[in-house]
Amino acid sequence: MTDPLGRRPSVALATCGELPDLDPDDRLLLPALAATGIDATAAVWDDPAVDWAAFDLVVLRNTWDYPLRRDEFVAWARSVPRLANPAEVVAWNTDKRYLRDLAAAGVPVVPTTWVEPGDAWSPPAEGEWVVKPAVSIGSRDTGRYALPAQRDLAAAHVARLQAAGRLAMVQPYIRSVDSYGETALLYLGGAYSHAIRKGPMLSGPDPAVLGTDGGGLYVEERITARTPTDAERAVAEATLRALPFDASGLLYARVDLLDTPDGPIVIEVELTEPSLFVGTAPGAAERFAAAVARRLAVRSA
Ligand SMILES: Nc1ncnc2c1ncn2[C@@H]1O[C@H](COP(=O)(O)OP(=O)(O)O)[C@@H](O)[C@H]1O
Ligand SMILES: [Mg+2]
Repeated sequence: MTDPLGRRPSVALATCGELPDLDPDDRLLLPALAATGIDATAAVWDDPAVDWAAFDLVVLRNTWDYPLRRDEFVAWARSVPRLANPAEVVAWNTDKRYLRDLAAAGVPVVPTTWVEPGDAWSPPAEGEWVVKPAVSIGSRDTGRYALPAQRDLAAAHVARLQAAGRLAMVQPYIRSVDSYGETALLYLGGAYSHAIRKGPMLSGPDPAVLGTDGGGLYVEERITARTPTDAERAVAEATLRALPFDASGLLYARVDLLDTPDGPIVIEVELTEPSLFVGTAPGAAERFAAAVARRLAVRSA
């Protein structure tokens, strides 16, 4: 594809300094984009040398180092002239408070207690619980606690997040994740593309709370292709309809579901920098490239 001057459009795939050449799965997008006539290149979001206005489109991909500086990241998103998904989506989606909006719109979401930095919180008497921050990715700062035995560790985790000025989320551990896993449904250019199963991520308390933090950008994920059930498709699509913006205008969207006896529930909606898992689904990288091409065609029309 070329513009009226015969120029191939140029697209930046925004990434982080730890992955300057993109995650291996996102590297699969490069040949697919090239085959569509698009020059795509990786660029680090906080590299001051990059001229973002020079690109016909900037696509968020592996910008996975923003959770501890979300304000800076959202401000950067607002400063990029042509960003997908756009900055208003990034602002809404980088804080899991959006789950409240979805619940208010009637979408089934994981039951959540929100603990602000100044709030008093005492752990439930029993059961298995997850503690995590409202701004996080890749299971960082996330832990699982069996109460009452790990009561003090759960309290320490919440206190640790509060001390860092972070909003904590406390959720029941949805046990089906241990066997059935998590289901992520991918939508590209407004249409369903593919789905994957993600294995359980939490074996116990947050290593940082135990004082054994090994560091690293993300916990390793076990991903396999999955055909979603009709109920999963229905909840994912109800979620997209409930967004406070037009989902058909999103370049990509991922809805992550857990299974309960009452049906699928939303754990997370990823509209910012989701892993797309294109390597698990034949044609997915090409569908992504086609969606980018359609976006560029609309822009240059
Ligand atoms: N309530 C929960 N029940 C079971 N597993 C959970 C729960 N919350 C989080 N997890 C596990 O932790 C992982 C990370 O949590 P998630 O809410 O998806 O945050 P993020 O992916 O943004 O770090 C999930 O993929 C899942 O394996
Ligand atoms: Mg997740």
